Amino acid sequence: MSNHTPDPARFPARFTWGVATSAYQIEGAAHEDGRGPSIWDTFCAAPGKVRGGDTGDVACDHYHRLPEDLDLIQGLGVNAYRFSVAWPRVLPQGRGAVNRAGLDFYDRLVDGLLTRGIVPWATLYHWDLPQTLEDEGGWRVRGAAEAFAEYAGVVAGALGDRVRHFITLNEPWCSAYLGYGNGVHAPGASDLADSFAASHHLLLAHGLAVPVIREAAPGAQVGITLNLHHTYPASDSAADHAAARRGDGFQNRWYLDPLYGRGYPQDMVQLLGEASPQARGLVRPGDEDRIAAPTDFLGVNMYSRAVMQDAPGEGWLHARQIRPEGSAYTGFDWEVAPDSLTDLLVRLQRDYAPGAIYITENGSTYPDTVSEDGTVHDGERTRYLESHLAAMQAAMSQGAKVRGYFAWSLMDNFEWAEGYDKRFGIVHVDFDTQARTLKQSGRWYRDFLAQARETV
Ligand code: NOJ
Repeated sequence: MSNHTPDPARFPARFTWGVATSAYQIEGAAHEDGRGPSIWDTFCAAPGKVRGGDTGDVACDHYHRLPEDLDLIQGLGVNAYRFSVAWPRVLPQGRGAVNRAGLDFYDRLVDGLLTRGIVPWATLYHWDLPQTLEDEGGWRVRGAAEAFAEYAGVVAGALGDRVRHFITLNEPWCSAYLGYGNGVHAPGASDLADSFAASHHLLLAHGLAVPVIREAAPGAQVGITLNLHHTYPASDSAADHAAARRGDGFQNRWYLDPLYGRGYPQDMVQLLGEASPQARGLVRPGDEDRIAAPTDFLGVNMYSRAVMQDAPGEGWLHARQIRPEGSAYTGFDWEVAPDSLTDLLVRLQRDYAPGAIYITENGSTYPDTVSEDGTVHDGERTRYLESHLAAMQAAMSQGAKVRGYFAWSLMDNFEWAEGYDKRFGIVHVDFDTQARTLKQSGRWYRDFLAQARETV
């Protein structure tokens, strides 16, 4: 068990410290400057899909408030900022005609970061698939992967002279499973086989894009971001251990194994049976080699852990995630489990040996309010941040090659199916006035980074 207090003096001088956001969650301006519709515009417009009928039409209005938001980022003292590029701004039809006005926005963003001494990290796909591609079958079909490679080349060609860090996909598990498996996210489909078809086409999209990015932006660092949960058995029983292994297979190994050249995990292919992309002939010869295109880093998004119990007959996984007693939980009812971050990072280093690991997201949601004194007293978020930085540091001292950390999120934003109800920011946003207020957690992060800089 780590002591849950990070030591700012023990981080390397060149450590990447950042905050993260994504396009649909903050930009707004959903119908401006030639942006095409994405699956999230469509999903939000469908009744009952998003809490309160919220949409990303305005979000944090970041598109119109770029200079002040860049100043806000600079004020935190971070040396990196992770954002995503909206595919439908750049290629409104998903492929083909490039929308110059869309690229101009990212030019301004990147230039604004660089003049402030902040390194831009661009994610190419953070869930906003152009609707035209969904109309052709979306991630269920191979065409989306090919279109993604085209789009990646356009962005890397336009920004690659200044952006030196590209993340192909954000959390393909969520795009595949929440989007096509249980219908919680856009496009809202619920079909197990389709969700695994989508997972394969997402991984293929990544694999096709890596060489395209390298060609268009020589020398840039390229990686992918996965949402990973370290998985534990609910008891010492052999059945619960096997359930934990299946849970790990579903969430983690299904992505990690092919990315690191091992092909898809056979135990999961067997468990899926007819629903596997293999059984449906979707994994073509050479695909696994394409997916295993060498990358420079692994991006890890970590929020919690999974504790799994054997549950024969329950779903296709025959396992259920339990809610451990006595733990603290964040607003999403996600268990606060910092030690699992240490276990996860040590395991990734041991089993996959990525060239470098970056925590590309980590954070927590609580129902924050601005008090009369003008302050947001989010002590729980501060403690969350603190304990996870300590857990990351513990993993580093055990040999995990962690090179950077991005807090999720710079500011409260559109939390997908939960609308604006769930706040993850270290900056509070009043969605009526668009006022930004640095939370106490944001102050803590800023002061911690100042100490980390001073002591190196
Ligand atoms: C992961 C996703 O990448 C991000 O978009 C989301 O807001 C956070 N998790 C919190 O749920």
